[in-house]
Amino acid sequence: MPLPHDFVFGTSTASYQIEGGVTAGGRGRSIWDDFCDRPGAIRDGSSGAVACDSYHRWDEDVDLLSGLGVDAYRFSIAWPRIQPTGSGSVNPAGLDFYDRGVDALCEAGIAPFVTLYHWDLPSALQAKGGWMTRETAERFGEYAAIVGERLADRVAMWLPVNEPVVVTLFGHALGLHAPGEARGFEALAAAHHLLLGHGLATRALRAAGVRVVGTANNHTPVHAASDADEDVAAAALYDTIHNRAFAEPILLGEYPNGMGEGMLGPVAEDLAIISEPLDAYGVNYYNPTTVGAPGSAAVVAASTTSPGEEPPIEIPEGIPFALVPVEAAERTAFGWPVVPEGLTELLVQLRERYGDRLPPIYITESGCSTHDVVEDGAVHDDARIRYLDAHLDAVADAIDAGVDVRGHFVWSLLDNFEWAEGYTQRFGLVRVGIGEGEERTPKDSYAWLRGRISQVRASS
Ligand code: FCB
Repeated sequence: MPLPHDFVFGTSTASYQIEGGVTAGGRGRSIWDDFCDRPGAIRDGSSGAVACDSYHRWDEDVDLLSGLGVDAYRFSIAWPRIQPTGSGSVNPAGLDFYDRGVDALCEAGIAPFVTLYHWDLPSALQAKGGWMTRETAERFGEYAAIVGERLADRVAMWLPVNEPVVVTLFGHALGLHAPGEARGFEALAAAHHLLLGHGLATRALRAAGVRVVGTANNHTPVHAASDADEDVAAAALYDTIHNRAFAEPILLGEYPNGMGEGMLGPVAEDLAIISEPLDAYGVNYYNPTTVGAPGSAAVVAASTTSPGEEPPIEIPEGIPFALVPVEAAERTAFGWPVVPEGLTELLVQLRERYGDRLPPIYITESGCSTHDVVEDGAVHDDARIRYLDAHLDAVADAIDAGVDVRGHFVWSLLDNFEWAEGYTQRFGLVRVGIGEGEERTPKDSYAWLRGRISQVRASS
């Protein structure tokens, strides 16, 4: 079945991954500037100091979006550009920068979708405890009000927090992302404050008169490594932590499996804020996950990595689940398994789990890193074309199965700073000569996507 003719096509980026200009226009420091300074934190020792230089090349990016024919662009606002220390006074140059950026998109007929937090927390807030404290959630609500008041009239959709699960697990439980804390299960406090921040921001945005508020949660369908009870239980626990712990407070106003019980603070009142009804639900999907119990027969049997597979993430002692490589015919340059039907499965599962409580879905991120072949100025990224084609078909299958999916955003418009992987993973529809003038070269997938979009439009 084809995608509906009014389906929204877009691409996604994030401020620290593309902007550069980290000292320009009065921007304050963020936890990612600090984390990149830690020896060994980033695979290639790089940082987002220049990245794609989109701070200075915003108009070029808008031209690329126009040439691609997308309806929408999802980008994030860097909190330390708006409030260099994360609270109090506003930096007018920062607000002006995004105001002009939003105008440029609107003039080009591209709907701005704005993420307020894609991981660049002002360092001054981290110094006071960051997301491990409620204060950060409260400051986040104030920041949302400032941005909302300025841009409410032109932004098509607001997504307060990107992937609170990844911030919690990678940033606070495992220490692989900024702020680099390895707290294990204690990190659940950060999860709660990120969710509270989402709720406070949602209220502040609505008070500022914005039209549409959603969220961008990372989801993965979870499968047990075998039918053994211990593997099934470990998989259910992982599903709770990765998926349900972030969807259910927002959609149902409760934590799954009594998870909220051990939490400090006014959890019941907080849940009322967190579950403020949304107009849209954003899903970021990359791949499914297979989970077993540490030391189970299936986990031991799967513990050797084959070539091309991403080496397993080291999970600290005492954590009651183990991640097992997912079987797949193809892998991305990252080693992530390519499983488009996992996206259909996930979307159908969300619909089954949450029914009418689930607002219309947008795929707010989907894409892959590739080993691009550059030849005579052209970039042949056939693997990305195959990936996107199959994942758009997977969305169409979910729509066919009755799930209300309204749009799809490719991660990413540009090759960019891929967090702890630095510039070693290229996710862009457009190649960027990082460190070589930041020139942009549309890849084969860019022309392919333009064609796919016109086909959908022509089918109406
Ligand atoms: C997601 C992030 C995004 C990008 C992709 C590859 O988890 O939201 O910034 O790094 O993964």
